[in-house]
Amino acid sequence: MPRIAVVGSGPSGVYTAQALVQQSSVPGILVDVLDRLPAPYGLVRYGVAPDHEKIKSLQNTLRSVLEHERVRFLGNVEIGAHGLTPERLLGLYHAVVYCVGAARDRRLGIPGEELAGSHSATDFVSWYSAHPDAVPAGFGLGTRSVVVIGVGNVAVDVARVLARGAEDFRPTDVPHPALGALAGSAVRDVHMVGRRGPSQAKFTTKELRELGALPSAEVRVEPADLALDPAYAPAPAAPTGTGPPARPLAAVNRRNVEVVRGWAGAPDQGRARRIHLRFFLRPVELLGAGGRVTAVRFERTAPDGQGGVRGTGAYEDIEAGLVLRAVGYRGVPLAGLPFDETTGTVPHLAGRVLRHGVASPGEYVAGWIKRGPTGVIGTNRACAKETVASLLADGPGLAVREITGDPLDAFRAAGLRPVEWPGWLAIEDAEAALGAELGRRSVKIPDWEGLLAAARGKRGQSGR
Ligand SMILES: Cc1cc2nc3c(=O)[nH]c(=O)nc-3n(C[C@H](O)[C@H](O)[C@H](O)COP(=O)(O)OP(=O)(O)OC[C@H]3O[C@@H](n4cnc5c(N)ncnc54)[C@H](O)[C@@H]3O)c2cc1C
Ligand SMILES: NC(=O)c1ccc[n+]([C@@H]2O[C@H](COP(=O)([O-])OP(=O)(O)OC[C@H]3O[C@@H](n4cnc5c(N)ncnc54)[C@H](OP(=O)(O)O)[C@@H]3O)[C@@H](O)[C@H]2O)c1
Repeated sequence: MPRIAVVGSGPSGVYTAQALVQQSSVPGILVDVLDRLPAPYGLVRYGVAPDHEKIKSLQNTLRSVLEHERVRFLGNVEIGAHGLTPERLLGLYHAVVYCVGAARDRRLGIPGEELAGSHSATDFVSWYSAHPDAVPAGFGLGTRSVVVIGVGNVAVDVARVLARGAEDFRPTDVPHPALGALAGSAVRDVHMVGRRGPSQAKFTTKELRELGALPSAEVRVEPADLALDPAYAPAPAAPTGTGPPARPLAAVNRRNVEVVRGWAGAPDQGRARRIHLRFFLRPVELLGAGGRVTAVRFERTAPDGQGGVRGTGAYEDIEAGLVLRAVGYRGVPLAGLPFDETTGTVPHLAGRVLRHGVASPGEYVAGWIKRGPTGVIGTNRACAKETVASLLADGPGLAVREITGDPLDAFRAAGLRPVEWPGWLAIEDAEAALGAELGRRSVKIPDWEGLLAAARGKRGQSGR
């Protein structure tokens, strides 16, 4: 019976497992979905914002795949560590599909980035999502002013979480310490800053509009920022014979510009918090005092006519006791697997891992580690299907290889204590019980010890 390993239980891993059991004409196929965490679902559990309950509920769809009779979830199994190299996996499985995501944040590479109070949005998201690797000290929100660098959907998520009232998060599964910090938050101004214009921002319109619908906050936009954007300013009569006409804006960018334009110069509504949406400001330095960040220095930019921007030599400082860089994610190399440092992805051809430019038999990739860190959950479905189509086309060649025994025994022999599906269900029960104790719905357990104790059916004291 062909045995396939899928490394990573985020959307791309689960969609890969689904495609394998649905598309394969091999009746006996067995799929192990391995994850380094004791809990499944990747960024759907540890990235999607807690107040986006509808998207969070996609976990139920992913769950039905992991409960399929031919699929087995094995958490707490990290590949690339404990001697579990890609080479070793090929001795345990006929094929391995790497779906390990892109876990690391990108850096700005400017002075002051290491000051206390300067963090990646990844750290902040991991904290409110109860990721067991989140910074242990958590986030004190004792500052009035926060700068969020970047204007993508992650920036929108963290700005919204900072601007919302804690009461909105009480019915969600945010860990209790994070709820407490949000309740005691002194934050009044959240500055979300893009280096280019609103017509080039990466956020999607639905997510952008949500910022304007928060009862506790108002969006402030400076008309002077917008006037610089060629897509915002009234189009001047184009002189004839001066080069190609400007490309029309994509629908999402046009809608974004319309929404931002609607906010520009709106009167102050006196709400508790303000989200300042700023554009054409490029971060050049984080300023500090006593080792802590106090402000971000930006250089004013202007469109360069090619879709990019150029510096103008004019500077603006924005006060900030907390700075969150939301400038994108980056893949992490997995020991023994090829890695392209430029793109932060594994080189591949239609999902087949390339070693020295040649497809490596039995090794595949899907999701963010294949495409790079862009795209919504659904994007990973088509991506996984492409990879599985390649795998199944190679199938007859893969199945002739000898593999030995049940991989679970090999993981145990390597000193691991894999969390099987009943272990995960025990974690869910423990989170529901923790929520009941705290007078809330299910509340996430935020640490390794608590998760592993819960998986073994022991109630830990963590998460309070
Ligand atoms: C903060 C944030 C919020 C988002 N919100 C939304 C949203 O609201 N709606 C939407 O449609 N999209 C959203 N997205 C995008 C969406 O989450 C991604 O498209 C999707 O999660 C990528 O799937 P993936 O499986 O490639 O990676 P991931 O979801 O990151 O899954 C990778 C999995 O691999 C595991 N892993 C990593 N290394 C190893 C290893 N060595 N061994 C074993 N396991 C390993 C990880 O633990 C993880 O479980 C969001 C993204 C981010 C960053
Ligand atoms: N609700 C949702 O559907 C949801 C929620 C979260 C995430 N996601 C998805 O997850 C993916 C990742 O999102 P993301 O927000 O991390 O990445 P992203 O969409 O790529 O946005 C990154 C932002 O950072 C800016 N940036 C990059 N380098 C910079 C620098 N050196 N200085 C200043 N700004 C810089 C980019 O500006 P430039 O454009 O100028 O480079 C851009 O505004 C996206 O596909 C997103 O849609 C979806």
